[in-house]
Amino acid sequence: MTPTVWFLTGNSGKFAEARSYLSEFDYHVKQFMPQTGSLYEPQAESLEVVAESKLSQAIQHLPDDFSDGDMILVEDAGLFISALDGFPGVYSSYVHSTIGNLGIIRLLSHLTTEDPVSSASLRSAHFKAVAALWCNGEIIMGQGVCPGHIAVEAMDGNGFGFDPIFIPYDLDDDFEPLSPGNYGPHSTHGETFGAIDSSTKQIFSHRTRALQNLFNQLPSA
Ligand code: IMP
Repeated sequence: MTPTVWFLTGNSGKFAEARSYLSEFDYHVKQFMPQTGSLYEPQAESLEVVAESKLSQAIQHLPDDFSDGDMILVEDAGLFISALDGFPGVYSSYVHSTIGNLGIIRLLSHLTTEDPVSSASLRSAHFKAVAALWCNGEIIMGQGVCPGHIAVEAMDGNGFGFDPIFIPYDLDDDFEPLSPGNYGPHSTHGETFGAIDSSTKQIFSHRTRALQNLFNQLPSA
């Protein structure tokens, strides 16, 4: 029987990205979210610790139709801004729900120059995602990073969270990120994740990379 990967998340944008990546494997992918109040959002120093805590909580609240061989997936991500020493990092959720994208843009307002390449360096940031899978009683973790920079103004459209203010660096032929000022065959052409379609975001996404890293560790992947 085809196993189901149960993804614990209330975020439909994250679920869509994970489902799109996992569709290349022979798994069903379903979203689940236990009742409000039964899970807490841990505050910890690393995304790995947060993901592990979420996974331990998820295991206590398995979905009703969970079957033998099914897996539980959790994922935690954050935006790390170099000029702010990695802030908001593990505080990304709180910062997004308080000062929001406009607040981040204001915090970096002094970091712009006429030259787009040096602006991109000054405003550099990366997304990091940690995906953790509970599979046959074992925990497997994967990490993924997407480097880029913070836009001077928000570009709305698709996406969620910090997507409207994050511009990924171009990627080379092997999908490896380039440094600012280097143009590669995979590019959003200066557009933020918020302004591009989700299949293009997928090429750059820290989440896809974390899932790749994780599922490459499974013998059946
Ligand atoms: P979470 O704790 O993993 O849900 O994410 C922390 C914060 O980062 C939330 O405000 C998310 O909306 C935001 N975030 C996570 N992943 C992404 C992404 O891929 N794009 C934009 N924002 C994201």
